[in-house]
Amino acid sequence: MPSNTLTITDNRTGKSYEVPVENETIRAQDLRQIKVNPQDFGLMTYDPAFMNTASCKSTITYIDGDAGILRYRGYPIDQLAEKATYLEVAYLVLYGELPNKAQLADWTYNVTHHTFLHESTKHLMEAFRYDAHPMSMFISVVAALSSFYPEAKQVKDPDVRQKQIYRLIAKVPTIAAFSYRHTRGLPYVYPDNDLSYPGNFLNMLDKMTQAKYEPDPVKEHALDVLFILHADHEQNCGTNAMRAIGSSMVDPYSAMAGAAAALYGPLHGGANEEVLKMLTEIGHVKNVPAFIDRVKKKEKLLMGFGHRVYKNYDPRAKIIKKTADEVFKVTGVNPMLEIALELERIALQDDYFVSHKLYPNVDFYSGIIYQAMGFPVEFFPVLFAIPRTSGWLAQWVELVNDPDQKIARPRQIYLGADQRDFVPMDQRK
Ligand code: ACO
Repeated sequence: MPSNTLTITDNRTGKSYEVPVENETIRAQDLRQIKVNPQDFGLMTYDPAFMNTASCKSTITYIDGDAGILRYRGYPIDQLAEKATYLEVAYLVLYGELPNKAQLADWTYNVTHHTFLHESTKHLMEAFRYDAHPMSMFISVVAALSSFYPEAKQVKDPDVRQKQIYRLIAKVPTIAAFSYRHTRGLPYVYPDNDLSYPGNFLNMLDKMTQAKYEPDPVKEHALDVLFILHADHEQNCGTNAMRAIGSSMVDPYSAMAGAAAALYGPLHGGANEEVLKMLTEIGHVKNVPAFIDRVKKKEKLLMGFGHRVYKNYDPRAKIIKKTADEVFKVTGVNPMLEIALELERIALQDDYFVSHKLYPNVDFYSGIIYQAMGFPVEFFPVLFAIPRTSGWLAQWVELVNDPDQKIARPRQIYLGADQRDFVPMDQRK
């Protein structure tokens, strides 16, 4: 018997089955042959929240959650954060290799020359109330882009796909900045092609009366590092949404609006916003022990702690902490930092957190930096969505080209009523 197989004995029938093991995985479809009788549907797996199901084969991002490792296309995240720019990393994530000089120049040119939004987008923005959440605006405008670029429906055409990739990577900072300016009642600022990707983003957020906006180099660099850290994170909730929606072969704008909506949730990319709300609620270092007690009694979640995959320190949190120090030198220390450090100190030595393997994740510190840089709390998930666009698109291209993939359509275990006859209104209880 070959050693790379699994033998399963069905104790209901006494029959044995041999299924292949490939990449430490068995195919769920191989279980369907296991039946009690020929009419039987066959065995399925039950895996709510995909705790132990690989939904795809991917070559983009590698995570070893126990060892705290994160790599894009094989490159460790700390090396990329230290040595590359976000645009280089986006290219790497999307195309598999770091760009050479000519490739980077071409990529940068194309991204820089797709940053403008159709003027009608501004009218769409105007329709939102002054206090609309910027993430709602971001999601809506990304979805609306599909109406501006109907050719994007041709998802099987690599040239069409490429065009939408330039557009989406280029336009997300503009959409984000317009949503920010809208909530502040400020006029929109058009992109400046002389500036870097994060520099232009700061320009569209902050420019007032200056003839030429010059981004603060520390903030520009910090934003670039944060963008690198958020570029991709394999099959998380938002990316899974991108793939699930994309599997219907809808255009990438519609799929990405769904992915961004998933990211908005407080258990996902909305967590950085929740961290700041939590720190504000705690209010003072002296209140930290009482808050930790409430978390242990399960009355509260310690936002920014815990991760489905990392059961060790999130490697991105380490890099963010270093970036925070650089930012605070320019902006002054965020008063919330003291509370965050105390929370981290107590949690990391507390038996509850140690035994549950709960460590700070990327969101624990990102919000503190964003706040020090002057971003409002509601804007944090949008700052996450901008760089994640490269990951979503890379995963979408991989999906569209993967012959193993079909429309995503899980099974269910039906536990509802058996067939019964319709009850007329006057006989209902
Ligand atoms: N605070 C307190 N307890 C926690 C926390 C937390 N932040 N996270 C997990 N736990 C506990 C759970 O109560 C559970 O305890 P139990 O076994 O005694 O019942 C145990 O740890 C396992 O937790 P699960 O919820 O089963 O873990 P899961 O992998 O499903 O959840 C998640 C991961 C959603 C990230 C969770 O840790 C959480 O809610 N964290 C807070 C929100 C957050 O920071 N999200 C950002 C994640 S990073 C990102 O998306 C970019």
